[in-house]
Amino acid sequence: MSDEKTIVCRCEEISFQTISDTVREYSCSSREVKLRTRAGMGYCGGRTCRHMIDTIVAGINQEPIADEIQLSYRPPARPLTFGVLGGMQHDNESR
Ligand code: FES
Repeated sequence: MSDEKTIVCRCEEISFQTISDTVREYSCSSREVKLRTRAGMGYCGGRTCRHMIDTIVAGINQEPIADEIQLSYRPPARPLTFGVLGGMQHDNESR
């Protein structure tokens, strides 16, 4: 990635430069980058940027991406009524 101002996490508008500066300053993991910058904590829950953040951190730290605990992500959630949950009503937004 050549442009330091490239946005990596679109939801939280976190740039490549912010992530790389954070990794260099604190010698931190992807999870710590997430906690320090909020990258991966936006609306999509990190599904869009998670792999990119892992790759950037691994590249700066010169370590392969560990198979263990990488950035977690949450599925998008929205409120449901009990009627929809119980099958009594249809959720029109999901169709
Ligand atoms: S793009 Fe990073 S949380 Fe959505």
